[in-house]
Amino acid sequence: MADPAREPEPEPEPEERLPFPWDPVPLAGERLARMAGAFPDYREEGLAGFGPSGYVAMPDSKPFFEEYYNTPVHPGDIWVVTLPKCGTTWTQELVWLLQNDCDFEGAKSMLMPDRYHFLEITGVTARSVREKIRDGEDPLSRRIFFDPIESRPRPWFVKTHLPLHMCPPKLLDTAKVVYIVRNPKDVCISYYHHLHLYNEAAADLTLETFVDLFIDGLVTQLPFFPHVLEAWRQRHHPNMLFLFFEDLKKDLRGNIARVAEFLGKTPTDEQLDKLAEHLHFSNLKNNPWVNWEWIAKSAWSTGDPNKKFMRKGKTGDWKNHFTPEMDRKMTGWMERELEGTGLSFVLDIPEEQQ
Ligand code: A3P
Repeated sequence: MADPAREPEPEPEPEERLPFPWDPVPLAGERLARMAGAFPDYREEGLAGFGPSGYVAMPDSKPFFEEYYNTPVHPGDIWVVTLPKCGTTWTQELVWLLQNDCDFEGAKSMLMPDRYHFLEITGVTARSVREKIRDGEDPLSRRIFFDPIESRPRPWFVKTHLPLHMCPPKLLDTAKVVYIVRNPKDVCISYYHHLHLYNEAAADLTLETFVDLFIDGLVTQLPFFPHVLEAWRQRHHPNMLFLFFEDLKKDLRGNIARVAEFLGKTPTDEQLDKLAEHLHFSNLKNNPWVNWEWIAKSAWSTGDPNKKFMRKGKTGDWKNHFTPEMDRKMTGWMERELEGTGLSFVLDIPEEQQ
C-alpha cells in the first residue's frame, strides 16, 4: 500500500516537442509527371520531397512526419529500419523471436503488425486509402493505421522505412537499431513486383520505366543510396547492427547468432537450429503470421491474393528481368554512388548456396 506520508513520485517532465526540420518541396514539371504517371494514387494529391535526401511522400505529410520525429524512445525498444524490399519482414521475425527468447508459440499467435508498430504507414499512404480505412469496418487495418504506439506494451518493436534523419533524433543513443540492406538490383525487381501486387503502380508501368524511376529516387520511400549510406556511416555505433540480405542468404544461422549477440541473447545450439529452420524462406513464405497473406483480406489492400508478398526470396533474380541496357544503367548508377564509401554489394549467389 502507498505510504501516505511519502510524497508521490513526480510525473516526468513532458519532453519538449521538436519541430520537424523540413518543409515539403513540391515535385513539379517532368519529375511530377513521371511519378504521377507511374503511381495513380498520387495523381490528385501531388508529391513532394522532404529533407536533405528528398524523401518522396505526399505534400501534406509533414504533420505526420513531425509526429514520428517525436516518437518516444526508451532503452529496450528495438527498431528495424530498412528500405522496402530489403528483408524487413525476415529481420522483424528474427529479431522478435530472439528478443522473446525463441517464443515460437507467441510468434504464431500474433500477426506481425500486432507485434511491430509500423511507424509511418499512415503518413505515407495516399489520403484516399487512409480515409477508406478510417471509415471502414476492418479492425486490423484500423488498428495498424490509427492505434497510437502508446497503446502497445513495452518494450516497443518498431518497423520503419524512414531514413535515420527522419527518425527521432535520440533513437540511436537510446534504443537498438537493426538495419538490413540488399543489393539494389534485386530490390528494384522486388519493389516493382510489390507495387504491382498492391496495385500501387499503374498496370501499364513497365520495368524499363520503373528502373529509371528507381534510379532517380522517384518512387515513394526512396531515394535508395542516401538512406543506405546514412545507416552505413553509423554501422560502428554500439546500438546499430548493419546487416546484408545476401549474408543471411549465405549463412542464416551465423547471422542469427550475430543478431543474438547484438541483442545480448544467448540461444542454445538447438534454438539456433530451430530459428534457422523457422526463418528459412521455404518455411517463412508459408507462415501466415508473417507472410502478409492477411493483407489480401484487409481493407488496406486491393492486392491480388494469387500474387505473393513472399515471392522468390533469391539473390540474383534481377538477371531474369533486366535487359543489358537496364543492367548498364543500374551498374553505372551503383558505381557512381558507391565510390569512396567502402560499401559494396553481393549481386549473385550460386543457386546451390541459397
Ligand atoms: P522477393 O520479392 O525478391 O522474393 P521486405 O520484407 O523488406 O518487403 O522484403 C521482401 C523480400 O524479402 C521479398 O523478396 C521476400 O521474398 C524476401 N524474403 C522474405 N523472407 C525471406 C527469407 N526467409 N529468405 C529469403 N528472402 C526472404
